[in-house]
Amino acid sequence: MSERLIRPARNLYGSLRLPGDKSISHRYALLGAFAEGTSRFTNFSTGADCASTLTCMQALGATVNRLDEHTVEIDGVAGRVTPANHPLDCGNSGSTMRMLSGLLAPQPGRFTLTGDASLSRRPMERIRKPLEAMGARVTLTQGHAPLTLEGAPLQAIDFTVPIASAQVKTCILLAGLQTEGTTTVREAVRTRDHGELALRAFGANLTRSGNSVSIAGSQSLHSIDAAVPGDISSAAFFLCAAALFPGSGLVIDALGLNPTRASLLDVLTALGAHISVLNLEEKHAELVGTVQIAGPAQGLGSTEITGSLAAQLIDELPVLAAIAPLTRGGIRIRDARELRVKESDRIALVARNLRAMGAEVAEFDDGLDVPGGQTLHGATIDAGGDHRIAMAFSVAALRAEGETLIQGAESAAISFPEFFDLLDLVAER
Ligand code: S3P
Repeated sequence: MSERLIRPARNLYGSLRLPGDKSISHRYALLGAFAEGTSRFTNFSTGADCASTLTCMQALGATVNRLDEHTVEIDGVAGRVTPANHPLDCGNSGSTMRMLSGLLAPQPGRFTLTGDASLSRRPMERIRKPLEAMGARVTLTQGHAPLTLEGAPLQAIDFTVPIASAQVKTCILLAGLQTEGTTTVREAVRTRDHGELALRAFGANLTRSGNSVSIAGSQSLHSIDAAVPGDISSAAFFLCAAALFPGSGLVIDALGLNPTRASLLDVLTALGAHISVLNLEEKHAELVGTVQIAGPAQGLGSTEITGSLAAQLIDELPVLAAIAPLTRGGIRIRDARELRVKESDRIALVARNLRAMGAEVAEFDDGLDVPGGQTLHGATIDAGGDHRIAMAFSVAALRAEGETLIQGAESAAISFPEFFDLLDLVAER
């Protein structure tokens, strides 16, 4: 386990371009490997999670060539995978396990998916239910991985996803793509729509009506060339860091700004940060642009994150909670029970680490209430093997009194291996 010492900063200044979005990279990897032809992706995610997806697809017959650190070329299997004679290791990646299950359930053969200790604790019933409703045979280990699929032809379904989960939605759409008839997925909260946009980019027909999306079966996909937009969930750490310093200035270029992902900009604006968005463009239906941010002179105010906003900001909540003591009025987060079943129990771990830094925080089953106007003290932080916890507390540490030691700092590489180097680049000390 590696440690990182984070010293307080005086300001945050500079410009960044970030590696590709993790959610989009997973989907492009799955679809590129499944399509017919050779796809090429530039600015592909450098995180270990997306590498897990590539390794699994390689084991299933796709040819994956890393042209350089950021460019991947994939020769797809044209709609028919070759079952591997060993388990498919999804590493730490829930996205890989859940979405790949949807892709494999209609394919002939037997597939076993495994993961690391954290992934083996995460709930998989959420994909077993819809896949079994389609006729798939899915065996779990007490609701968890290892997961085994006996692939077989499926039937189309009309399914309402009981929790807000884009991974589950995409899982069902990937199965529906290969199933006769039309499969419809309904969701109570509109979750990130990268799966829908990526399927269209690879040539599939989908229709959306309100919060439901339908896909006709027996469609084939063609290869694409695409540049993956910068990851806004990785940018979140730098945007929050910049927001903490009056007079800061940060520009992030070529950033993914898909409206189902960009609520953080509204929340930071509501907290008082000065944000402008420039150079908006569309790439394979994904919005990309430049974001400029400066921290307000009077410091950040207060806000409440509940309901659908909590679902849409799910990956950004740890860093917002970690900086909340440094706002004037605090941040209240509710309706975010899903945080308890991420790579760690993020509600418990955020509360524990905030307390370690001397902050007061109220913990609820579905959220946190963090009062503002508090001082954070340098402390030893336990990242709990969770990349977003390691990075969230590195940001809070920039405005703490004294130095902070992040234990388990290596976990940042799950989504963002460059994080600490880029933080050193823009943090002025
Ligand atoms: C993701 C969806 C979210 C998110 C995860 C990535 C995706 O998970 O937390 O980091 O790419 O679809 P859930 O689907 O479990 O909400």
